[in-house]
Amino acid sequence: MKVLVIGGGGREHALAWKLAQSERVQSVYVAPGNGGTAADPALKNVPLSTPEQLADFAAAEKIALTVVGPEAPLSQGVVDLFRARGLRIFGPTKAAAMLESSKAHAKAFMQRHGIPTALYASFTEAAAAHAHVAKHGAPIVIKADGLAAGKGVVVAMTLEEAHAAIDDMLGANTLGVAHNEGGARVVIEEFMAGEEASFIVVCDGRNVLTLATSQDHKRIGEGDTGPNTGGMGAYSPAPVVTPNVHAKVMQEIVNPTIAGMAKDGTPYTGFLYAGLMIDAQGQPRTVEFNCRLGDPEAQVILMRLKSDLFELLMHATDGTLDKFEPQWDRRTALGVVVAAHGYPASPRKGDAITALPGSAPDLQVFHAGTAQQDGRLVTSGGRVLCVTALGDSVRLAQQRALAGVREVQFAGAQWRNDIGHRAIKQH
Ligand code: AMP
Ligand code: GLY
Repeated sequence: MKVLVIGGGGREHALAWKLAQSERVQSVYVAPGNGGTAADPALKNVPLSTPEQLADFAAAEKIALTVVGPEAPLSQGVVDLFRARGLRIFGPTKAAAMLESSKAHAKAFMQRHGIPTALYASFTEAAAAHAHVAKHGAPIVIKADGLAAGKGVVVAMTLEEAHAAIDDMLGANTLGVAHNEGGARVVIEEFMAGEEASFIVVCDGRNVLTLATSQDHKRIGEGDTGPNTGGMGAYSPAPVVTPNVHAKVMQEIVNPTIAGMAKDGTPYTGFLYAGLMIDAQGQPRTVEFNCRLGDPEAQVILMRLKSDLFELLMHATDGTLDKFEPQWDRRTALGVVVAAHGYPASPRKGDAITALPGSAPDLQVFHAGTAQQDGRLVTSGGRVLCVTALGDSVRLAQQRALAGVREVQFAGAQWRNDIGHRAIKQH
C-alpha cells in the first residue's frame, strides 16, 4: 500500500516514520516534506501543496490512505475535496476544522454544548475591546481569531500588555495572523490558572480512541518564560492527567464535543486535540481545540505507540475504531526542540547543520525546519529539529534527549534544558 502524508514539519516526519514501519505499507510520500524526510530511504518527498495537486497525485499514484498533518490544508477543505473524488483521507472536513480555525466559532460551540472553558467575549472594534479590558482588569488573555501557528495569543499579566495586544491584533498584526472572513477579530478571555496538558483523541465520526497524554512547553525560555512559540519540547505521558482527571476530560469535554459536532451536522473525523487547563482541584477546562496532532506532541506520542499506525488509521477511516486497541510503550518519551537563531520573532534560515546524533531504538531525531541545499543539510525554519528519547523515567528520558541535542551542530542553535520539569518535580 502507498501512503501520503501532507505537511513538512516535525509532526509529519514522525507520522511518516511511524507509517513506514507498517508491514502493509510499501511507500510513504511526504508533501512537501523536509530535509529529514528527504534523507530517509523509507520516505519520498513530493513537491505538492494545493489540495488539487495533492488529490491529483493521490489518484494517479493509487494512494491507499492520505494523512493530513497541519491545520492549513484542513481549513482549505482538502478532506472535502479528497472525499468528493472518492479518495481515502484521514482528517476533519473544512466545516469541522473550524473548531480550530476560528476561536470565536470554537467558543460559541463550547458555550452551546456546555463544555467547560474560560468566559469570553469577541470584538472587531478596538474601542469596545479596550473598554472590556478596562472593566475586567488583568491578568487577561487576548487571542487573534484566525490561524497563527500557535503564536496569536497574548497572556497579558498587566493592562498595558492587554491594550497593546488589542492594538496590534486589530491593527498592525505583527504576529502575522491569517484573518477569517470579516477581517480582524479578537477573543478576550478570562485568565485560567493551573497546569496545561494535551489530550488528543482519534475519531471516526462515531467512536473515540484516546491517544497517550502529553504536555508541551510553549514558552521560548527556561522556567516557562518569554514569548509563546509553537512548542519547545514535550513529553508523554503527562502525570497531571491522573485516572480521575482522564475520566472527567472524557465525560465533560471529549464526549460532549463529539456528540455536539454530530448534532450540529458536522460529524468529527480526524485527530482532535483538546488543550486543557487543569486547576489545583483537578478540574479540567478547555483552553482550545486543534483539529490535528500537536507538534511536538506527535513526536513523543508516536515514539510510544507500539501498534501499527496504518492499521489504526484504516480503522479510523472505516468507522471501526471500536475494533482497535492501541498498545503503548510504558516508558516516558521526551522531545527537546532545537530552534533556529532568532526564533520565535525572526528565525534565521540557511545555517549549515554539520552534526546530528545517530538514531537508536531509544532516540530519534525528527526534522522540522530543515532542507537539503546543494547536498548540504541547512536550517529552513524556526523549529529545526526535535530530538526525542525514551527512558524509564522523565529524568532519564530528558538526559538521553539532551545528550542527543548536545551532538547537534549549527550556528545559533537554541533549546531548553528543562523540558519535563513539572513532571520531574512531582516525583
Ligand atoms: P491557545 O493558542 O489558545 O492554545 O493559547 C496558547 C497558550 O496561551 C495556551 O497554551 C496557554 O498557555 C495560554 N492561554 C490561552 N488561553 C488562556 C487562558 N484563558 N488562561 C490562561 N492561559 C491561557
Ligand atoms: N504544540 C502545540 C500545538 O501543536 O498546537
